[in-house]
Amino acid sequence: MKRNIVLSGFMGTGKSTVGRALADRLGWGFIDTDEQIEKLSGMKITKIFSEFGEDVFRRFETLIVYNVSRLSNYVISVGGGTLVNPVNREVLSRNSLIITFMAQPEVIYSRVCSNKDRPLLNLGSEDLILERIKELLEKRMKYYSMSDFILDTSFKEIFELVDEIIDQIYNIVF
Ligand code: S3P
Repeated sequence: MKRNIVLSGFMGTGKSTVGRALADRLGWGFIDTDEQIEKLSGMKITKIFSEFGEDVFRRFETLIVYNVSRLSNYVISVGGGTLVNPVNREVLSRNSLIITFMAQPEVIYSRVCSNKDRPLLNLGSEDLILERIKELLEKRMKYYSMSDFILDTSFKEIFELVDEIIDQIYNIVF
């Protein structure tokens, strides 16, 4: 029996926003692993990347993934790179249903461009950022496709996505 729902997917695909709405509808808790990493480390994610590098960030991420995997009745939003690591995938899939959000690169760009909190996309020009989004999406697709199911969030309202998820998960989680 799966006890939690993990929302994975690229930056800017709506995991936290939809995750909060989904948790409300289910009467479940909501937790965001990036926020937990910031709490545990006492640093913003941008600072962890700039001062210690991505590897240190990924170690914090795995530690937090392990902690949240022991929860029950939670919607857990994980970072866009979390599923790349097989240990994270294994730990999360033990008792959580994993849903990955996808969106078109241009939609992702429009959602992330005004936010400087994503170190992997801090590249200055629109062309460079779009190129990086496409490159990372392509690299990560094989890991994202190991999820229980994938939803395209490009042109959907929050409530539509929540409805769709509830329809799909009913027989698996409850
Ligand atoms: C990352 C995504 C970010 C955060 C970190 C790395 C990634 O989370 O974990 O900046 O590798 O795609 P969001 O997907 O919640 O923005």
